[in-house]
Amino acid sequence: MFKLPEIPTSIFSKMSKLSIENEALNLSQGFPDFDVSPQLIELIASVSKGNVHQYSPMPGLPDLLEETSRLVHQSYGRVLNPQTEILITAGATQGIFTTIQALVSPGDEVLILDPSYDCYGMPIVLSQGVPIRIPLNKVFLPDWELIRASITDKTRLIITNNPHNPSGRIWTHEDMEQLTLLLDENKNLYHLSDEVYEHITFDQPHLSANLYLGLHEKTIIVSSFGKSFHITGWKIGYVVAPKKIMNELKKVHQYLVFTVNSLGQHVLSKYLKTQNVQELGAFYKEKRDLFRSGLQNSKFNLLPCEGTYFQLAAYDQISDESDEVFCENLVAEYKLAAIPISVFSAHNETQKIVRFCFAKENKTLVKATTLLCKI
Ligand SMILES: Cc1ncc(COP(=O)(O)O)c(C=O)c1O
Repeated sequence: MFKLPEIPTSIFSKMSKLSIENEALNLSQGFPDFDVSPQLIELIASVSKGNVHQYSPMPGLPDLLEETSRLVHQSYGRVLNPQTEILITAGATQGIFTTIQALVSPGDEVLILDPSYDCYGMPIVLSQGVPIRIPLNKVFLPDWELIRASITDKTRLIITNNPHNPSGRIWTHEDMEQLTLLLDENKNLYHLSDEVYEHITFDQPHLSANLYLGLHEKTIIVSSFGKSFHITGWKIGYVVAPKKIMNELKKVHQYLVFTVNSLGQHVLSKYLKTQNVQELGAFYKEKRDLFRSGLQNSKFNLLPCEGTYFQLAAYDQISDESDEVFCENLVAEYKLAAIPISVFSAHNETQKIVRFCFAKENKTLVKATTLLCKI
């Protein structure tokens, strides 16, 4: 027998396909449509002439591990041992899969807070664990009462995502304290912190698990160079975990990929030295503000967007259709692709909210808001 239930085509593939067929603006899938930095292109050319084409060491190129540790220190003041507490992965996706595979045994329960990104559930099923999907509250922040009530003696892991895709919300200090308390009270519980949008916040700072000493011992943090440097297609990310957990992650990593592509690691280790991730927030804030102001006179009701490059918009003043049907009609009639947010929740309850990605050139965003204002 095959191991996974029948899985429908992902909404991202479906909407991107519809977008191409309808020659539409694609604000559905989360990737930038602008050029990467010319400096990065030059680095690829020069680095590729060197001796960089064979396997890198299993946990990652030592230089990139060093640079990642420097990045975490610069961003959060946390001192990491690059040899024992960092792992370079094939995107955050592999970091997430690796963590679940290493920690979750048959029958273990894993808490997922919905709406959630789509790569958490199936790795749990492959580990014969049980995904327990708990809704976030109405404003897309954790409902701690509900989370506490969902803990059993089988709960092994809680997966959090902050800054949050799809809502663009970021957690408060109180949320981080509640999480610390929860881990403290439940000795068998570990925490997987998906922080791929860690450097994309606007008006408040991102509260990384790196900042909370009380979380370090039981937390595995995943992040993505793809999101921070506009290179989602490179699929390179990193994991931070204490040595004891990291040793377990490395065992899975060794048999899953062994090591991540060497050219990308060499280039990034040099590129990171020249970059200031603090500028990323301002870069995307301009795009967020352009997109939001363009929609000010539309019939969409914009939800708060504190981080990530996603903007949620409620369309209940426009239509009664389900969000999937609304998105299908939007791409066919108005030539603009968006993502229905019901697909991020286990029970697919429709809230008449869609997600737009604003990691796009300003001219694309102006075109998009002009189209959306016609509805
Ligand atoms: C919340 C979240 N986690 C993980 C990922 C995957 O990141 P990567 O492309 O580095 O695997 C994404 C990508 O969109 C995401 O939005």
